[in-house]
Amino acid sequence: MIYRNPGSCFRNLVAGTETKVPLANGKYVTAINFDNAATTPPLCSVLREIAQFAPMYASVHRGKGYKSIVCSDLYEHGREVVREFVNADKRDVVIFTKNTTESINMLAYALAADEKEQVVLSTDMEHLANDMPWRDKFTVDYIALTRSGRLSLKSLESKLQAYEGKVKLVAVTGASNVTGYINPIHEIARLVHTYGARIFVDGAQWVPHTSVNMRPYDSAEHIDYLAFSGHKMYAPFGTGVLIGPKETFANTIPVYQGGGAVGLVSQQAIEWEAPPAKCEAGTPNMMGVLALITAIDTLSKLNLDDIHSYEQKLIDYAIGGLSTIPGITLYSIRDGTEERVSLVSFSLEGLHHSQVAEILSRKAGIAVRNGLFCAHPYVEKLLRLSDEEIKYYQTHDDKSLPGLVRISFGLYNTIREIDIFLELLTHIARHHQFYAHKYGYVLEPNRSNGDKKEEYPYC
Ligand code: ALA
Repeated sequence: MIYRNPGSCFRNLVAGTETKVPLANGKYVTAINFDNAATTPPLCSVLREIAQFAPMYASVHRGKGYKSIVCSDLYEHGREVVREFVNADKRDVVIFTKNTTESINMLAYALAADEKEQVVLSTDMEHLANDMPWRDKFTVDYIALTRSGRLSLKSLESKLQAYEGKVKLVAVTGASNVTGYINPIHEIARLVHTYGARIFVDGAQWVPHTSVNMRPYDSAEHIDYLAFSGHKMYAPFGTGVLIGPKETFANTIPVYQGGGAVGLVSQQAIEWEAPPAKCEAGTPNMMGVLALITAIDTLSKLNLDDIHSYEQKLIDYAIGGLSTIPGITLYSIRDGTEERVSLVSFSLEGLHHSQVAEILSRKAGIAVRNGLFCAHPYVEKLLRLSDEEIKYYQTHDDKSLPGLVRISFGLYNTIREIDIFLELLTHIARHHQFYAHKYGYVLEPNRSNGDKKEEYPYC
């Protein structure tokens, strides 16, 4: 397929798109960043806003100075910008956190305050942050996958039925950071509410790529809790978001405690502030919030539906190209009907995922992510690893740890960049034996032979 316009009209809105990086041969090329699911570069508008606002920077909620008042007002205004962005209800609180992982840990802590034994249903496709925080506080069970690695709604319903009203929460990702599949969140919400449970959506990979609407409280398709990160939506200044009903946080002791979260404290008693302040002990990250709301403003003006449709073109093109390369196995299906975000994971026969990632970087300045993407159980299932194999890797320091290679696009990536990537990957696939040798790492066929420690030197 030849694209008439191989560029992106969004490209000059993002910082660093023309940055040169060195290759193994000493030459410099323009970096290609296909690792946007891990973190995105900043929008230029975000950088400008931060620089312009900096002279006015002062403490939030801690002073009567003019600058402090301006900063406090802006910080509080940030909550309204976020609320409007995802159509959160007035009864919800918008809590600023460090990132999605911190948001989920906070939510798990708040919900665990309920003494009753409760069940949380996570899923087999979650990032570790939407799995581990639930484990030590609740009975956790996992919604299964279909053969193609998508979430099974049948499994969800049968588990909701089996637990007979004991499910407190269904914790599910909006979009997978491994396969890119977008889950039918509102359909899931409808089902979850029918059984009297609530739904939490991990929006880290979802919110930056498509328009998200939490829908009104009185809708069965309402999202009860939502979290996402600024650094995955072009605002890398350390702000994440947790949204949910105020009452969830009103009567619980917050996980982080200290100044800003309280009214009057004596050595005998603590007077807590109401949420969200109660959940934000310590000096608030005002610049992070400014970055986030500037990114929201820019992305909204660009229109998230347009961004989504541009990114769909990129991922369709990449998947189309990858499917023609001998030795490539793709770990998500593209049949034209499913909803997805702009990422895909694959493996290349004859080369370890870390070799592929390193060759792409050293030969063409292409950054991808490889490994298990902090979604270990999902990747283990996609790779059909046995319990014995997993146990082996957990107990041996074996550098041939299984995993995949992932490419993930942002709004500034281009068809031209994908062509460079596909061309190099085709070359690597054709010469995989040469590269396996050159990059000095031979795949260990017998994984249970723990004595063989392979070296993986840079060359
Ligand atoms: N969850 C992030 C990723 O998928 C870190 O890369």
